[in-house]
Amino acid sequence: MEYTWWQRGIIYQIYPRSFQDSNGDGTGDLPGIIERLDYLQWLGIEAIWLSPFYPSPMADFGYDVADYCNVDPLFGTLDDFDRLVAGAHERGLKVIIDFVPNHTSNEHPWFVESTSSRDNPKRDWYIWRDPTPDGGPPNNWQSLFGGPAWTFDPTTGQYYLHSFLKEQPDLNWRNPEVRRAMFDALRFWMGRGVDGFRVDVIWLLIKDAEFRDNPPNPDYDPDAPLIENRYFEYIPAYSQNRPEVHEVIREMRAVVDEYPDRVLIGEIYLPFDQLMHYYGSDGLMECQLPFNFSLVLHRWNARGFEQVIHDYESLLPAGAWPNWVLGNHDRPRVATRAGTAQSRVAQMLLLTLRGTPTMYYGDEIGMHDVDIPEDRIVDPQGRHDPRRSRDPERTPMQWDDLEHAGFSTGLPWLPIARDYTRVNVAAEQNEATSVLSLVHALIALRQSTPALAIGSYSGFKADGDVLAYLREHGDQRYLIALNFGSATQQLDLGTTGYQGEVVLGTYHDRAGDRITGAVMLRPDEGIIARVQAPLGAVRDEAVYL
Ligand code: NOJ
Repeated sequence: MEYTWWQRGIIYQIYPRSFQDSNGDGTGDLPGIIERLDYLQWLGIEAIWLSPFYPSPMADFGYDVADYCNVDPLFGTLDDFDRLVAGAHERGLKVIIDFVPNHTSNEHPWFVESTSSRDNPKRDWYIWRDPTPDGGPPNNWQSLFGGPAWTFDPTTGQYYLHSFLKEQPDLNWRNPEVRRAMFDALRFWMGRGVDGFRVDVIWLLIKDAEFRDNPPNPDYDPDAPLIENRYFEYIPAYSQNRPEVHEVIREMRAVVDEYPDRVLIGEIYLPFDQLMHYYGSDGLMECQLPFNFSLVLHRWNARGFEQVIHDYESLLPAGAWPNWVLGNHDRPRVATRAGTAQSRVAQMLLLTLRGTPTMYYGDEIGMHDVDIPEDRIVDPQGRHDPRRSRDPERTPMQWDDLEHAGFSTGLPWLPIARDYTRVNVAAEQNEATSVLSLVHALIALRQSTPALAIGSYSGFKADGDVLAYLREHGDQRYLIALNFGSATQQLDLGTTGYQGEVVLGTYHDRAGDRITGAVMLRPDEGIIARVQAPLGAVRDEAVYL
């Protein structure tokens, strides 16, 4: 089997506002990213994914697009974008961009037209419905950012649908003209050399044709930490994940396949059994990588993860390629979720699992969420409910110990973490025991070791705080053992007779250690060991999960 770049390599997400500012306005930009391409090449990743840089009023920091075929002046110009693609390609890096098809900005000319009158040709490009007889919204659908998903337009006397902010009206993907226009935008970027797309909320694209009310959610608990959102007061049965969405994604995939070697990645928050449908079925292809967010969503716990990885691996359809995401611009950073002490274990997990890893900028140096004072919250979700603010995980990249962490010469759009004088790229590149040095070594090892890059996965029986698994390819066999806890643990190799030596550990002093019979793991320690079975040994199925 041949493996392509998006299977073999690592995807690195850049949030352009926060990566590198080149003009001192306090906001990152495309020329800034160009300045940092050498760093990305050094890190060893395969592809960068850029969150939106399109012209936008920035009600949702670029996820409200006012023109799908241009660059917002805040981030630069189309020429800058072309230079970025050329610079990335020269260094062997692929470029994936965000595509936001579910909604536009309310300032997009299409919506301005659509809202101008009921008989405007663009009226049906968005989702307009009459009020109920008492003047209320057409149904009980809620916006993911809080509040009703419908806003009344007094000029034309109808409501329009917005799954997010009222400044983000949902496009009507049942309209063939919308599909055509949006697919042309994909072609526009592929023509400029873009290697793939991460498609925003792809599972939301089509809504129930009859606009039925969502059923109440009997498990809704307004006090539960992650679901304070009234959105979950109802089960979003009719407002998302509708069967017809697959037809749209198949069309989208066919467009992406008009150009060679491109990738379609879907942002999908769904349980595994439903997520798997987004690879495609009946020989009709959809996303090569439907994002798997389970490492982001589950509590940091060895037994829980063992189950999650097992479930995911078992449910993957034949021929489908797995993927794992450790962090993104919507969820607390991994160093905050798992705790600083577990940062290294987390990176070792991501970079040794089977399937394409997606890293979030700054996690490689151990950046954590930054406390943002309430009066400085800018994220719309955070302004609605401070507990759900996404600002803490979007703070500027920490490059060095100079003012503003080398991110900008001006005042950054979000505060920088106080520990930046210690937690920064320059310091960590010079420190053999830093998180960055470990991530660099993990990437180099993964990319030079077929068992880790493309080998098979088998769960290995472990208990307590230990998560263990094997990655195998040909006669290469690697054992990964991770201690998720803060006490010393032991992993019993059972009857396998496995012997070998540690090639990389989260503690600096472990490489070269012999492994026989049992593996001792110190608090928060992870190791990767190359192991062999004794000559003539029979695979003992009892030790595998
Ligand atoms: C998902 C994006 O990741 C998030 O940042 C955004 O707010 C919503 N989609 C709406 O586009």
